Amino acid sequence: MKAIDGKKIASDIVDELTVSTASIQGPKPCIAFVRVGEDPASVSYVRGKNRTAEKIGITPILCAFENSISQETLNAKIDALNADPSVNGILVQSPLPSHLDEQSAFNRIDPTKDVDGFHVVNAGRVVQEDANGFVSCTPAGIIEICQREGISLEGKHVVVIGRSLIVGKTFALLAMQNGPQANATVTVCHSRTRNLKEITRQADILVAAIGRPEMVTGDMIKDGAIVIDVGINRVGDASKKKGYKLVGDVNFAEAEPIASRITPVPGGVGPMTVAMLMKNTVKAYELQNQK
Ligand code: GUN
Repeated sequence: MKAIDGKKIASDIVDELTVSTASIQGPKPCIAFVRVGEDPASVSYVRGKNRTAEKIGITPILCAFENSISQETLNAKIDALNADPSVNGILVQSPLPSHLDEQSAFNRIDPTKDVDGFHVVNAGRVVQEDANGFVSCTPAGIIEICQREGISLEGKHVVVIGRSLIVGKTFALLAMQNGPQANATVTVCHSRTRNLKEITRQADILVAAIGRPEMVTGDMIKDGAIVIDVGINRVGDASKKKGYKLVGDVNFAEAEPIASRITPVPGGVGPMTVAMLMKNTVKAYELQNQK
């Protein structure tokens, strides 16, 4: 099959975690979601994460705040969750409203509870190739897809479009690590890159994480390349009940005949992000309960 079924891989991971969580005696792993405001995409993402946690047997706690809360109130909530021994993982849903400092919120989370992997300590652990840290869920999910689909990165030219900490930069660091699931040659492109098409056409594995609907067109892809589409963009579509449809950063119709493998949107990388978050939560629980 050319299309990679991320939904199925994520569902396998959820099943594996459900089995491992069932054997835990006493309190189950617990994750707290901090959401500020009512951004529809954030509401929907947090609802999905909440549902998956419950399915696995991870206890979710939802801390929802009005859009207008102050940094002090947000900080106080994070401090309280850090201090609560029954909470194993904390996630502050991004984006926060612009009057709040997002990176400072991420850095306030106890690094041992930072299941998103956005804390400076966990970002540093990725750089140092220290497996005790938490890796940002979307890049970790792409590595997991490659492992489970028998896609080796070794010696391949991986081209990443996008340099965010959440995806592009962290995936580039993972792909270039000195290890069996990595060892790629990596090029990172971004909004100021010149001759983008010339570079993307050299990719054995092309990762699109720019957040621009269908920006990657067929002529940017080498014959037989593996295409990983990280974008989840809402574009207006009057024919849909919700009034929008989801498209990736890749023009799927153009890319599909050229690529050897491709992740669809929806149903590709998206479900993997949630599955890896749950994996990190169980890992946090285990590290915190080590005798
Ligand atoms: N917003 C979009 N993706 C993510 C994610 O992986 N974690 C958090 N906290 N917010 C997000």
